[in-house]
Amino acid sequence: MTMKVVITGASSGIGKATAARFAARRCELVLLARRDTVLTEEAQAWTRAYGNPIHVRALDVRDRAAVESVVGEVIRSVGAPDVLVNNAGLARETLPYQDNDWADIEEMIDTNIKGLASVTRAFLPAMVARNAGHIINLGSTAGQFAYGGGAVYCATKAAVKMLSDGIRIDTIATDIKVTTVMPGLVETPFSEVRFRGDRARAAKVYAGVEALTADDIAEVIEFVATRPRRVQITDMTIMANQQATGFTIHRTED
Ligand SMILES: NC(=O)c1ccc[n+]([C@@H]2O[C@H](COP(=O)([O-])OP(=O)(O)OC[C@H]3O[C@@H](n4cnc5c(N)ncnc54)[C@H](OP(=O)(O)O)[C@@H]3O)[C@@H](O)[C@H]2O)c1
Repeated sequence: MTMKVVITGASSGIGKATAARFAARRCELVLLARRDTVLTEEAQAWTRAYGNPIHVRALDVRDRAAVESVVGEVIRSVGAPDVLVNNAGLARETLPYQDNDWADIEEMIDTNIKGLASVTRAFLPAMVARNAGHIINLGSTAGQFAYGGGAVYCATKAAVKMLSDGIRIDTIATDIKVTTVMPGLVETPFSEVRFRGDRARAAKVYAGVEALTADDIAEVIEFVATRPRRVQITDMTIMANQQATGFTIHRTED
């Protein structure tokens, strides 16, 4: 049976790589992000290559009314997802907390915690009614190890882990699975977004170390989503080889 897979933040990085893997498995995909033109181009290419149905919806996960409307429409037209990958997320700046802009703090909380909670709250009743489905949430090693300048981002990712664990308890009587995937250093546009387009600064994050690729994480997501019914992987931490904690990274000179 073809799996129905919903991915938030599918327009870039880990979300896009995950969409590519599920497209190659010929899953029915629902791709969500604010940049729906990017999504549409990818979706058309994958549909041409694999022939599977791919639905694209523009969605800002911070917009609660839009989440309710888009998710409702997806449930009616596609059905409840077999796999929901809550991947949309971002960090802003690396500043001491006392210097953070309030707007940046709110954007991280509204996207990483409230957005993820909102999308999940909208899909979950239909998944419970079907007694099936797998929620895969993107946490981070930042949610396990705080680092200077990342207090709010780290807090949002710790919240993702706790939300996952709580939902697993609340759905224990169902066949629903919940997984937190916690990557370390992955080279994606993430740092460019964090530093508002400053490519030189973003490049320094990955200098002198072989970072993970988006597809390394997509492969893990595909793996956890394709275990037998009895197997629930609750947590996956994936670090770069030269990484020991969120910010303990061994770098060699270039
Ligand atoms: N890169 C890393 O080192 C790393 C490590 C651990 C965890 N993570 C987590 O992995 C996830 C994906 O990050 P990435 O590295 O792939 O970064 P990315 O390349 O910047 O992708 C982020 C995705 O999130 C979407 N997004 C952001 N805000 C959104 C919003 N308000 N509504 C809907 N979609 C939104 C973006 O799409 P639009 O801009 O089109 O909306 C984009 O598709 C994030 O949750 C991140 O925290 C990343």
